Amino acid sequence: MRKVKVGMIGAGAIAPSHCQGIRLHPGAELVAVADVSKERASALAHEFHIDRVYGDPAELLRDPDIEAVSVALPNFLHASTAIGALQAGKHVLLEKPFAMSVAEATEVVAAAKKSGKIFTVGMNQRFTREAQTVRALRERGALGEIYHAKAYWCRRAGAPKFGTWFLHKKRSGGGALLDIGVHMLDLALSLMDNFAVETVSGFSYLKFGNRGLGEGGWGKSDAEEHLFDVDDFSGGLLRLAGGATLLLEVSWIRHQADADRHDVELFGTEGGASVYPTRLFKFLPEGSGYQIVEPKGGELRYSHCNRHCNWIDAILGEAPLEATLEQALMIQRVLDALYESAASGREVVFAKR
Ligand SMILES: NC(=O)c1ccc[n+]([C@@H]2O[C@H](COP(=O)([O-])OP(=O)(O)OC[C@H]3O[C@@H](n4cnc5c(N)ncnc54)[C@H](O)[C@@H]3O)[C@@H](O)[C@H]2O)c1
Repeated sequence: MRKVKVGMIGAGAIAPSHCQGIRLHPGAELVAVADVSKERASALAHEFHIDRVYGDPAELLRDPDIEAVSVALPNFLHASTAIGALQAGKHVLLEKPFAMSVAEATEVVAAAKKSGKIFTVGMNQRFTREAQTVRALRERGALGEIYHAKAYWCRRAGAPKFGTWFLHKKRSGGGALLDIGVHMLDLALSLMDNFAVETVSGFSYLKFGNRGLGEGGWGKSDAEEHLFDVDDFSGGLLRLAGGATLLLEVSWIRHQADADRHDVELFGTEGGASVYPTRLFKFLPEGSGYQIVEPKGGELRYSHCNRHCNWIDAILGEAPLEATLEQALMIQRVLDALYESAASGREVVFAKR
């Protein structure tokens, strides 16, 4: 099997999971890493036996030996880095959130289409064993018509490290909603198999981070001054084509009993399901009682359970890309619309395309 030579751009907190994913695929080889922090880049290179270390992603992109890049940089660098990589003829896996805005994301989509390269936003939640099990239940009709879903990722005191770029709107584009809401939104819409969003009504709050409360530990970037000007609790209601609805709630910081709770719950005419833990809820035949099933050991569509493996498979022409350009763009549209609706106090109605 030929090997796709991959470069890693960014050597922060999430970079090791990228390297593990790339190494998992027998048709991929991790050959270079770039980060403005030579120290972090060298540590990652040492851990994953990577030959070449660059201090500037542009140098890595000029390396003709590299066919594909995996990008894990602060959000404000996503669109420009992805466009630069596509123009340099590289396939790209870009971290979530896609971009700072739908305008930026649209430019990346244009560059991806022009390049003809394989571009994806690395939505890891879709590939978990649990998510794939629920998807399989839906595909075999166990849920019937899914008419509602509830998606949430709510932490009690789990904002990224104070002082890091995550908390500065100019560099992150948004807070909890962009950071972890994006995961639950993508997971819910993909499990519902319905990305045709018609209306969005959102809410968004900043109640704790600006008061110095709720710091968690995520992020390796160097901390600068403590500025917290993004949402620490957001969500909304989406109406989808066909009449289904999705309720989303996401927090880095809010008062609640548990430190962290996250799940997607699906409500269908034949059954209901939860992802974490994986459960199927249904009436017994002829309504003679009720059953809660814990499905185990089913065959998975993606046995690797990994976003990088799907991307490499697509580059090698061995499998279709799971998270498509159109889906990624719709997720970004919804995120923008949730913030817009929260600010205006009005529902956002999407024009039919
Ligand atoms: N999929 C997931 O579950 C998941 C989890 C965490 C983070 N992320 C995403 O991954 C991305 C990176 O997050 P992180 O947690 O690793 O952040 P981080 O702050 O830990 O690391 C960011 C890295 O980027 C480097 N960097 C900053 N500017 C640079 C530049 N101009 N050129 C090269 N390198 C530069 C920093 O030195 C740092 O090493 C973010 O977009 C985040 O949303 C995804």
